[in-house]
Amino acid sequence: MEADLHSLQTAAVAAVSKAQNLSELTAVEVRFLGRKGEFTALAKKIVELPDAERKRIGQVANEVRQRITLALANRIGEIKMASRGNLADTEWIDVTEPGVAPAVGRLHFTTRIILEITQIFERLGFSRVRYPEAEWDWYAFEGLNMPKNHPARDEWETFFIEDPASNGAPEGARPLTDKKFGKMVLTPHTSSGQLREMERVRDLGGPPIRMINIAKCYRRQADVTHVPMFHQFEGLLIDRDVTIADLKGVLDYFAGEFFGPERVTRLRPFHFRFTEPSFEVDISCGVCGGTGFLEAGTVLKGTDLTALREKCRVCKEGWLELGGAGMVHPNVLKNGGLDPEKWSGFAFGWGVERSAMMKSGLKLDDLRIIYKNDLRVTL
Ligand code: DAH
Repeated sequence: MEADLHSLQTAAVAAVSKAQNLSELTAVEVRFLGRKGEFTALAKKIVELPDAERKRIGQVANEVRQRITLALANRIGEIKMASRGNLADTEWIDVTEPGVAPAVGRLHFTTRIILEITQIFERLGFSRVRYPEAEWDWYAFEGLNMPKNHPARDEWETFFIEDPASNGAPEGARPLTDKKFGKMVLTPHTSSGQLREMERVRDLGGPPIRMINIAKCYRRQADVTHVPMFHQFEGLLIDRDVTIADLKGVLDYFAGEFFGPERVTRLRPFHFRFTEPSFEVDISCGVCGGTGFLEAGTVLKGTDLTALREKCRVCKEGWLELGGAGMVHPNVLKNGGLDPEKWSGFAFGWGVERSAMMKSGLKLDDLRIIYKNDLRVTL
């Protein structure tokens, strides 16, 4: 038995030193020391030996096992050293190769926000559409329930386009009747897309509609808080039995995704010609959590709480105004060629830049900087 153990040791050590890489070494280890290995098989027989023999042979077996283990460990070290020695051959870098140019520049602030807004509404099944930005008066005003000379039009400081064709329907347009085309304007808001989308869908067999129209808007205004060209996103959902609760749900979902999960919206009654009822939409302030106050330390018993609390400097009242919304006016549905007895829906229209600044907490002391193309500005 003792001799068997020694010759096994010799064989094992020889096999170890012959192994050229780690996987060969593992095979050797399994062959000798594995559960069904040669050493293991031999060691199992020790229990059958007479008492006097067993102890001594047991010791020999332990030594043999230790030697094999040591030989394995040493060989692992040798193999690893050798492979590191080859490193210069196996892993080299050609320093004369042309490098990978670092990315220079990125998408514009507004473009990034537009992509984000689009993705949020796409998750609710809305599709992004785009319609002309030089548009007929009919789509921008009259069809939206703002007849010629109606004072509501004063809200929009419109650029009119002097175009000889402006008095009639352009070629390729699909007027409901010719007289509905007036002058051409640069779209002062994205609401014109509502009528365009209704017409498009009507021609395809009718609603449902879930559109998000993100486009440039133009108004004759330029000061530190206004630019003559800005962006709005306009949502329109038309289906059967749509309610204000549906509108609120969509607005809250957007607020949570875009501004953060703790933010909610509030609807305030307002007046727009193209929706009834109409609302202004506010979002709870992210700084004071909609309370309008910043907590000011410990309050002593009996003191007037409000006197001790500091007003929120961002919103002053807990809410920030985002934009307009409402249930689509029956006249607008009619003008888009849809039967208001059958269909109902909601719409909302907000500024892209404004929403982006509210999201980031960015305070630009001059809004015009966004479109100045000044390379020193990184938004
Ligand atoms: N078009 C309006 C504006 O530019 C915003 C707006 C208000 C859009 C209410 C809507 C709406 O769709 O329902 O001020």
